[in-house]
Amino acid sequence: MTRYTGIIDAYRSRLPLPPEAKAISLGEGRTPLIKLDNLVRHEGVEADIYVKFEGTNPTGSFKDRGMTMAVTEAVHRGAKAILCASTGNTSAAAAAYAARAGIKSFVLIPEGKIAMGKLAQAVVHGATIVQVRGNFDDGMRLVKEVSETSPVVLVNSVNPYRLQGQKTAAFEIVEALGEAPDYHCLPVGNAGNITAHWIGYSECAGTGTQACLLCKGNCTFCQTGSTPKRPKMIGYQAAGSAPFMRGAAVKNPETVATAIRIGDPQSWDPAWIVQKESGGWFDECTDAEILACQRLLAEQEGVFCEPASATSLAGALRDLKSGKIPAGSTVVCTLTGNGMKDPDIILKGGFPAMIEVDAVKSAVERVLVDRL
Ligand code: F0G
Repeated sequence: MTRYTGIIDAYRSRLPLPPEAKAISLGEGRTPLIKLDNLVRHEGVEADIYVKFEGTNPTGSFKDRGMTMAVTEAVHRGAKAILCASTGNTSAAAAAYAARAGIKSFVLIPEGKIAMGKLAQAVVHGATIVQVRGNFDDGMRLVKEVSETSPVVLVNSVNPYRLQGQKTAAFEIVEALGEAPDYHCLPVGNAGNITAHWIGYSECAGTGTQACLLCKGNCTFCQTGSTPKRPKMIGYQAAGSAPFMRGAAVKNPETVATAIRIGDPQSWDPAWIVQKESGGWFDECTDAEILACQRLLAEQEGVFCEPASATSLAGALRDLKSGKIPAGSTVVCTLTGNGMKDPDIILKGGFPAMIEVDAVKSAVERVLVDRL
């Protein structure tokens, strides 16, 4: 047995890092690809649906794949501090990987709308937390400006090393299935992750992609593929924050899925390239659909993802039912983050009253007998 030590050690030859750069890792990656049996039966759809549960990463989201690369590269260049704007998960990952590297982290978060678990992560890892009177898009504008004049490295997904790390999720899926799926569905906010997956699949196919921020499909990694198939990429947005559906930035994005409450996506152009090259599409889900799907997945399969993550599965189920995704397809949905980051959203929805009993065996037995 060799100890698993994260995506940089696992895929070093396929990542653009100097050979002498020391990996800053928390053992991210190697997340489970879970086949949905109960839910497929329950919903009456005919397909092989897998969820790639990125919520099992060290800080509970896919951001860890990108952050290990961004922080490793930054520290190798001598950086002493990193900076990001975030709806919560990026700040959690930035704070954790900065702690691991022994450098400082500064995170800008939008007023109010951030899940408590994510905020707690930034606090516990010692980030300097700046709450901006504005939304994520305001924060993003600010960090881009500030990083031009201050000695900090910007670790949002405009940092190309982030996407290079996140592409490894596609590698893992191809390894697990033996080839790419027919369809890959993701929740879309800044559209960095959908771009990163397409880069990964394109490298596996040996074709590269114009969407790659580093090489536009022309680096050595792009020429070494062995499995020609690439999936159609489908990006689902929350209806109140769906610039890809509106064809332009959305001024005041709103959604219960706070992770993807983004009106002005940073990877706008690359994501359209992904859509065109892959033959996929964008669509939107309502908040009600998102929350219902989060519950369905938790109750049917024992998988607890955060609301934004459920957007991918909610959209996929709808498109399977309508036939837009043909019956018999192999579909992978990325569950981007862990449900435990945002317990408020579940408890706010109400829960069955707890049963209070005296501390005696018979009282507990009575509860069981009534319900078995
Ligand atoms: N799902 C979750 C749980 C996220 O946290 C994010 C993005 C996305 C999906 C969308 O990914 O931006 O690459 O399209 N969260 C960022 C953050 C914006 O600050 O944590 P994307």
